[in-house]
Amino acid sequence: MLAVNNLEVVYNDVILVLRGVSLEVPDGQIVALLGANGAGKTTVLRAISGLLDVHEGDITKGEITIDETPVHKYQASKIVENGVTQVMEGRRIFAEFTVDENLRVGAHTNRAGMTENLERVYGLFPVLADRQRAIAGYLSGGEQQMLAMGRALMSGPRFLLLDEPSLGLAPLLVAQIRDLIVEINAQGTGVLLVEQNATMALSIAAHGYVMETGKVVMDKGASELLADEDVREFYLGLGGDESVKSFREVKHYRRKKRWG
Ligand SMILES: Nc1ncnc2c1ncn2[C@@H]1O[C@H](COP(=O)(O)OP(=O)(O)OP(=O)(O)O)[C@@H](O)[C@H]1O
Ligand SMILES: [Mg+2]
Repeated sequence: MLAVNNLEVVYNDVILVLRGVSLEVPDGQIVALLGANGAGKTTVLRAISGLLDVHEGDITKGEITIDETPVHKYQASKIVENGVTQVMEGRRIFAEFTVDENLRVGAHTNRAGMTENLERVYGLFPVLADRQRAIAGYLSGGEQQMLAMGRALMSGPRFLLLDEPSLGLAPLLVAQIRDLIVEINAQGTGVLLVEQNATMALSIAAHGYVMETGKVVMDKGASELLADEDVREFYLGLGGDESVKSFREVKHYRRKKRWG
């Protein structure tokens, strides 16, 4: 189990962006992390992956654990060794390297399983298998996303962190990426899926968390979240009163209506 407990994160020593975030990713489960722009989703992933330093960020409170062992003081490479790998937003790949080279780079912490992992990745992504010698920069957006995911899988992670894998992709490709996440998960990898596309994310997740301004404001089974009126209004864009801006305001408003 990967767990985040009461996490507080500050950027540049002053800007408090996570204000007590807690969440859990059980082994072999898909967990969705949803929320509007700037809510702090990417920051949660950076904190888990040990990448806050690069962004002048610090954990000021709380902890991150793998099987109850605190890991939030580990360096990024040690987090990978401990089974957690992140695919960053914007599908960072080495544009001038070939597909095959990109994948081999991803395996650096786990040389022993190189051949096995390459086979697994090419099996999952036949498109990449067909383009092993192609220069990564010339791949389509969808193919680059697959390459970024494939590279992350080369370390044989127990938990895969995905930051908006569907961003900017056409619906058909979004569906393909979704199916791939399901397949990766079916092979035993736990997934923490950050998405703006809540419908997609909740359609495959077991559990979902909704963040707003640095806090988790909702934490429910995915099907319950999908059925929740407030969530539908704010995160699926299905109806609702657009004049009400804050998710919490709506809760408050509803409560008042109910009790008042
Ligand atoms: N390196 C940084 N320095 C200072 N502030 C930052 C930094 N990175 C992010 N922030 C701020 O922290 C807050 C949370 O950002 P974060 O990127 O985690 O949100 P997000 O939920 O991933 O948003 P998006 O949906 O736009 O990707 C935002 O207000 C953002 O401006
Ligand atoms: Mg983000």
